[in-house]
Amino acid sequence: MQKLTDRVFIITGATRGMGAGVARKFVEHGARLIISGRDEKRGSDLQKELAGESGRVVFIQGDVTSEHYNRYLVESAITYFGALNGVMTNAGMLGLGAVTDLKTEVWHRTVQTNLDSVFYLLKYAIPEMKRTGSGVAVINASIAAFKNFPNHPAYCASKAGVVALARQIAGDYGPELRINSICPGPVDTPLIHESAVAFPDPDKAVSDAADATLMKRLGTPGDIASLALFLASDEASWITGSTFTIDGGALVNS
Ligand SMILES: NC(=O)c1ccc[n+]([C@@H]2O[C@H](COP(=O)([O-])OP(=O)(O)OC[C@H]3O[C@@H](n4cnc5c(N)ncnc54)[C@H](OP(=O)(O)O)[C@@H]3O)[C@@H](O)[C@H]2O)c1
Repeated sequence: MQKLTDRVFIITGATRGMGAGVARKFVEHGARLIISGRDEKRGSDLQKELAGESGRVVFIQGDVTSEHYNRYLVESAITYFGALNGVMTNAGMLGLGAVTDLKTEVWHRTVQTNLDSVFYLLKYAIPEMKRTGSGVAVINASIAAFKNFPNHPAYCASKAGVVALARQIAGDYGPELRINSICPGPVDTPLIHESAVAFPDPDKAVSDAADATLMKRLGTPGDIASLALFLASDEASWITGSTFTIDGGALVNS
């Protein structure tokens, strides 16, 4: 049974990794999508893969650090589909470097990408979602909101910030809107391999990350998409203001 039939969602960071996995899952469940990212080719390819000729998926290229672009994403949902039922904020970057080495621009860029972008999108999406009477937001954070990783101060701080922002917005805009954050552990996407360069032996860092989970494997974009689908669907109608770890048990022994 389809769980999101005809609902309209914006998914940021949909051009690869988890965001692309969530887009595939939401379309399988009948959603209409605005997908976002900077990479024109990957975005257009995913649009073609998911939409065919039906026009149920529209790729809007741009940078989520721009307030104007986030507003345009919301306007595009209305232009193409006439309504906005939900958003999945997912675009993210690492911004690696210990505080004393980190360039100030990298700190700002990381916070702008991981935290400011969520504020911008929700600022414009909330009024439209409220119009539908039952809007929903799924905010992709990270277990980095709860634990430190070497050379990840900007990432950890921005992810902790976005968890707090999601909880705050849930309190401010219930009962019409439901807002939850999800905190993945190590998931097999391009980003985890980029993150591993902060460790002395990057390949070992990735296999160690898998071994450090209770399930002894990396997560997949499909694992994350299943949780996002549940939270976006009516099955989660009594869940809001919550934070879900989805990490194969990684936090248990850390
Ligand atoms: N992989 C993990 O182990 C892990 C664990 C916990 C949390 N997370 C979080 O999960 C989310 C997805 O991560 P992922 O692993 O799937 O990463 P990924 O493979 O690097 O994908 C990141 C996505 O974000 C988009 N993006 C990044 N900066 C952007 C910007 N300034 N403007 C527009 N789009 C931007 C990228 O699109 P373009 O390249 O097209 O711009 C891409 O589609 C991130 O928020 C990440 O922090 C990841």
